[in-house]
Amino acid sequence: MPTVLIIGASRGIGFGLAQEYRAAGWRVIGTARQADDLDKLTAIGAKSLQLDVNDLNDCAGLGWLLDDEKIDVAILNAGVIGTRTEKLDTPSAEEFNLVMQTNVLAAMRILPIIAPMVQSAQGTLAVISSEMGSLSLRSGTHAWLYRASKAALNSVLLDIAHTYSGMTSIALHPGWVRTAMGTDQAPLSVEQSTAGIRATIAARTPRDNGKFFNYDGTPLSW
Ligand SMILES: NC(=O)c1ccc[n+]([C@@H]2O[C@H](COP(=O)([O-])OP(=O)(O)OC[C@H]3O[C@@H](n4cnc5c(N)ncnc54)[C@H](OP(=O)(O)O)[C@@H]3O)[C@@H](O)[C@H]2O)c1
Repeated sequence: MPTVLIIGASRGIGFGLAQEYRAAGWRVIGTARQADDLDKLTAIGAKSLQLDVNDLNDCAGLGWLLDDEKIDVAILNAGVIGTRTEKLDTPSAEEFNLVMQTNVLAAMRILPIIAPMVQSAQGTLAVISSEMGSLSLRSGTHAWLYRASKAALNSVLLDIAHTYSGMTSIALHPGWVRTAMGTDQAPLSVEQSTAGIRATIAARTPRDNGKFFNYDGTPLSW
């Protein structure tokens, strides 16, 4: 039975991915911050691990908790959007730190820990990025701090892809999805997004290492 690790599986796309992979017969390891959310993961048959991606000790303990697991697919999903600015309002240092630490620093802590576990399974590592982080597809300035954080996350992913051979590392845009972050205005359901993400990951080969994809498998430019 293949194993998927989902970092940030408490709700929204992350919990949807846990349900999607369980329904497909996978062993699922999901992380969450709150006890209730850990119970929710256990209730769907997943192994749950407590992890706040902004807690240095939690991140450092992840390798020990996973104990040399072979991870076929790892998905770094946890993220925050911050204030939904329209204009170029300078964020406070506090807000900058929260968004950048959650979306970028956490990746720089967690990906070097889990990449060797994916490498030993010759598997696929995906970060849930956003089209809003693409420099070449930029068509607006909404939530510019979030955009900057996802552009930085894409850079981190490329460095992971350069460093770990024998596995496939990609960035994924999940679509605009009806979650707390995506709002109820979004056109896609969580189920549509997560089914697409699972299929897109399953279709990847080592030739796709270091590439960016939409949830439906369409390649995206950085
Ligand atoms: N929805 C969209 O339309 C859309 C579009 C593009 C990209 N994305 C990306 O997709 C990913 C999931 O978004 P979503 O729409 O499902 O958002 P969501 O419903 O707001 O869920 C965010 C997830 O991130 C977790 N998280 C945030 N900070 C964390 C921390 N410090 N430690 C651990 N977990 C933390 C949350 O856990 P808690 O429950 O503990 O807060 C939750 O599981 C994000 O990376 C987002 O940027 C979403």
